[in-house]
Amino acid sequence: MKKRRKIKKKSLLILIILILIVLSTILLLSKNQKNSFENIGYSKQEIEIIDKLSNNEKNIILNNEYSKSLKDIITNKNYNKDNLKEYIELSYKYSNIEGIIKYVNNYSDNNIELDDTTLDFISKEYFIVEYLDRYLKYYEDNKDLELNEIITRINSNLDYTFYDDATKADISKGMYTLVNKFYYLEEDFKPENIITVTNEYTRDTARLNKLAYENFVKMADAAKEEGLTLKITTGYRDYYFQRTLYNNYVRSDGVKLADTYSARPGFSEHQLGYSADLTNKNIVGFDKFEYTEEYKWLQDNAYKYGFIMRYPKDKEYITGYQFESWHYRYVGNDIAKYIYENNITYEEYYAYFLR
Ligand code: DAL
Ligand code: ZN
Repeated sequence: MKKRRKIKKKSLLILIILILIVLSTILLLSKNQKNSFENIGYSKQEIEIIDKLSNNEKNIILNNEYSKSLKDIITNKNYNKDNLKEYIELSYKYSNIEGIIKYVNNYSDNNIELDDTTLDFISKEYFIVEYLDRYLKYYEDNKDLELNEIITRINSNLDYTFYDDATKADISKGMYTLVNKFYYLEEDFKPENIITVTNEYTRDTARLNKLAYENFVKMADAAKEEGLTLKITTGYRDYYFQRTLYNNYVRSDGVKLADTYSARPGFSEHQLGYSADLTNKNIVGFDKFEYTEEYKWLQDNAYKYGFIMRYPKDKEYITGYQFESWHYRYVGNDIAKYIYENNITYEEYYAYFLR
């Protein structure tokens, strides 16, 4: 009996010793590991962050030399632990961590020749990888411009020539089709679902896409609640009507001036059916519309009904047209809200999100 108890006691003791050995080994190993990070060159503060990583990530760090950007890498919002090795390797050569991370995550298969300028472009919002060569070329010729501005311009095709470099609009995009001085609609393009605007909402006869019209009515009714009147002067215009308009303008103002405010036939967004020129109750001339209460209201509210002001002030060089306070395009609520909040043109939105 005594012997058995003794054996039991003995094995318990062995177990405790074993546990202690295991625990101290773990402790020693982790201390060793911390020492290894220290030996590589990482500071206490950096090691604290490293300590939270998985073993796999720790091993990758241990197998590489010190990276002064490691902290920025692993705390970046787009950090992907599967790409840690590539990030670290690039961090010895380049300093733009945002660019490195975006590059490794998205474009490392794209056969890009990396350098600092390229990484700077990659790190910017609205960067489109297919346009990289065009960005770089434009940069060579315009070194004084901010990279964001170069991206805006290239995304809007401003390294091309209006009309001369135009191609057919991608009408497969339906209501999102981009029509401008680079993308035209063919003579026989006739949109579907065009309806006639009722008298209440127009001063003469106007037509518009049904969905755009339904949302216009909601918008006009909301404006009405605040004592304002919104009416459509023209909405959908076919190719031939636009041709007559444009030719008349050219006759009176010449091509150069006419091109600043009127689209050539085929190049007008009105042919798509989702655009409307607006006026108010007093039927002010277009050039006076920007001084009306209706215009002020539209600035704050049009996006809530899916409309954008298509040719804003200060964006003439992008849209190719002078500021048109009266011309609104229906693009749906989400896109209108994004464009409103980010103060970009439809050209820029289309290039990045819809192309
Ligand atoms: N006024 C706009 C640009 C058009 O003619 O379509
Ligand atoms: Zn218009």
